[in-house]
Amino acid sequence: MNGFIITKLRGRRVWDSRGRPTVEVEVDLAGGAVGRAIAPAGASMGTGEAVDLRDGGAHLGGLDVQNALANINGEIRMAIAGMDATDQAAVDQVLIALDGTPNKSRLGGNATIAVSMAVAHARAVAVGEPLWRHLGGFDACTLPLPEIQIIGGGAHARSRVDVQDFMVTMPGASSFDEALVWTAEVYRLAGKLLEDSGRLQGVADEGGYWPAFATNEDGLELLVRAIEAAGLKPGEQAAISLDIAASEFGRGGRYRLALEEKDLDSDGLAELLIGWIDRYPIVSIEDPMAEDDEAGMRRFTEAAGRRVQIVGDDFVVTDAKRIRKAAAAGACNAALIKPNQAGTLTETKAALEAARAAGWGAIVSARSGETEDVTIVHLAIGWGVAQLKVGSFARAERMAKWNEALRIEESLGTMALFAGRLPFAGLAPAGAAS
Ligand code: PGA
Ligand code: ZN
Repeated sequence: MNGFIITKLRGRRVWDSRGRPTVEVEVDLAGGAVGRAIAPAGASMGTGEAVDLRDGGAHLGGLDVQNALANINGEIRMAIAGMDATDQAAVDQVLIALDGTPNKSRLGGNATIAVSMAVAHARAVAVGEPLWRHLGGFDACTLPLPEIQIIGGGAHARSRVDVQDFMVTMPGASSFDEALVWTAEVYRLAGKLLEDSGRLQGVADEGGYWPAFATNEDGLELLVRAIEAAGLKPGEQAAISLDIAASEFGRGGRYRLALEEKDLDSDGLAELLIGWIDRYPIVSIEDPMAEDDEAGMRRFTEAAGRRVQIVGDDFVVTDAKRIRKAAAAGACNAALIKPNQAGTLTETKAALEAARAAGWGAIVSARSGETEDVTIVHLAIGWGVAQLKVGSFARAERMAKWNEALRIEESLGTMALFAGRLPFAGLAPAGAAS
């Protein structure tokens, strides 16, 4: 008997970190192994990403997932039962073909990603290995550099500040463990600085502080002060990473910074961001231009791409074709990798390979709506991706991921390598005033 044959598949409704319904899938194999995974959910989504199937109507704000569950427990189960879980590509191909749309809108990207990840987990359980080891074998020994949100804005804090994520990253740390210790100090001290200056309003969707700022630049100043207060050298040990998420406030090459009542075109926004790069120790900027502004993204990459990592999220939506097209146009030099933007693990891996083939960096990323599911940590380490983005340093759905990476680092012992400065190796020193 082939113990890897999928015998059962079931979907159930569970709840995410915003208290909204989401999809959990459990897969049983003939040999007795069980794999389980939960789909996350975005709030600041790219228009090109796989679509979550939601029921609509008034109940639960239209966000219930009964239709996605019916698909899992109905046609997906019929199609997948009897398949061999060792062939992830074949399983994912069945999901893609069964869905039949370019964006998983018929079956639901939430349904397909949960099934795809649960199959991978079941297979790893069946061979008795943790998923990261199963995916990467003995090559999987790199712990990613975490980028960790300190202040949340944009769609995650009702646009209290236009920039969505003010993050820190610790390229000077010598281990994942040390990077978290340093981050914990910066997070704590940033909170204290905000509170002492009467600018702390709570926490945003990913656990970062919800600030009362007069300008976006206040966030950058606060990060530098918190890094210094933690006894770390800005630009050497600790650096700043931003997610501008410009699709949230820009369209057709026009951008509206509501906080500062500024209307800018792409070049004006680029000039503002380059001014920040000149004055602050910034190593990475995500979605600096909107998803429909390829010309702006190309010009910004031309102007700043040798100094900072320029990450496409909404702009390339974990899609191999879009990554190849952006790379050919000279727009961005790194890709955010979010499995649920693609809808299957096979398509997620293809996007990662497209990024690597283009010489781009890559960051495995969570969504703003998360759960206790830690699959992305295993993907990052198993696939050898040097950066990981999970949100802030608070709230259990975030800490579950950081803590899982700590366990993996410990289990690797002296074999563990920490990515550290590796992702920024080709860049000119950050924060150097010109
Ligand atoms: P999300 O956005 O709210 O769609 O998960 C996070 C991000 O922009 O990186
Ligand atoms: Zn983003």
